[in-house]
Amino acid sequence: KFNYTDILMGGCSIDAYGVPLTDEALETARNSDAVLLGAVGGDVGNSRWYDVAPELRPEAGLLKIRKGLNLFANIRPAYLFEQLADACPLKKEIIGNGFDMVIMRELTGGVYFGARSTEEKDGELYAVDSMPYSEHEIRRIAIKGFEIAMKRRKNVISVDKANVLGSSRLWRKTVTEIGKEYPEVELSHEYIDSAALKLIRRPWEYDVILTANLFGDIISDEGTGLTGTAGLFGSAELSVSGKGLYTPNQLHYPDESVIGKQKVSPVGMIMAAALMLRCSFGLEKEAKTVENAIEKVLEAKISTEDMKYPGAKIVLTGEMADFCCQFLGKDV
Ligand code: IPM
Ligand code: MG
Repeated sequence: KFNYTDILMGGCSIDAYGVPLTDEALETARNSDAVLLGAVGGDVGNSRWYDVAPELRPEAGLLKIRKGLNLFANIRPAYLFEQLADACPLKKEIIGNGFDMVIMRELTGGVYFGARSTEEKDGELYAVDSMPYSEHEIRRIAIKGFEIAMKRRKNVISVDKANVLGSSRLWRKTVTEIGKEYPEVELSHEYIDSAALKLIRRPWEYDVILTANLFGDIISDEGTGLTGTAGLFGSAELSVSGKGLYTPNQLHYPDESVIGKQKVSPVGMIMAAALMLRCSFGLEKEAKTVENAIEKVLEAKISTEDMKYPGAKIVLTGEMADFCCQFLGKDV
């Protein structure tokens, strides 16, 4: 039995309270064992939340809850479901046996939280974003990465830009040191640009990708894109104490035109709940049960409009959720 409390974050909170996340909402999140969070969006083009101060945009609420709950470790799984092999953008003869990776993204440091400014200088505007990392921030995410690798294929590829950035050089040095404590795990380093290239040529070579905040943001979308649809996976954001916030992997859903149309897949959110059962509550069997139900839905070739794959029958968001429940053996 779970007890739920609803809190507002993002555009709905801006509309209700004038800020993307109130301190009270953050406190409620802090006092909960886990947080389930829907996609953030409505922030593009002529949206009413677009042309406002950065701290009043919907994303600012997300950054506040990440920092406020100290959610430094972001786990983003991406693998190819056999049922979706035809939807993968890579040719079948290339993708062969699929791929199965976890992107381990640092989430409370780097350029997302570094000093930022815009000023007038020499008659023009001048903007700065800085990308700070401390050893302890790198160390703790590296440890998480190696621990996850120990439960998988024991391979960590750390992705950085150490040929240019000081923060990446510290990243590489620190990850290498931590790596020595995990002799069974094979560690290698790649630059973000070559990793971005290799990921779409030989994705099966990745097991755990360990990377900084901004690189992880970008490369996790690339990883998800390879799965053939963005609507299938969950993402876990964990704190030191193991407290977690769980979201669909496609956390950023800027397209307002879909609102109220029942076109968007609920599967990412359901998979997020499975991750919650596993990571926050240690309910591995239950998490697997949910994931298996999703596989059955895919086998039955049922899909929503946004994640349609060859041969799929398109249903509405609510109907898709009903199918997931049915395959879970639950009444709807
Ligand atoms: C993500 C999202 C967020 C991020 C946005 C919505 C601020 O893109 O979690 O991948 O950049 O971290
Ligand atoms: Mg993103």
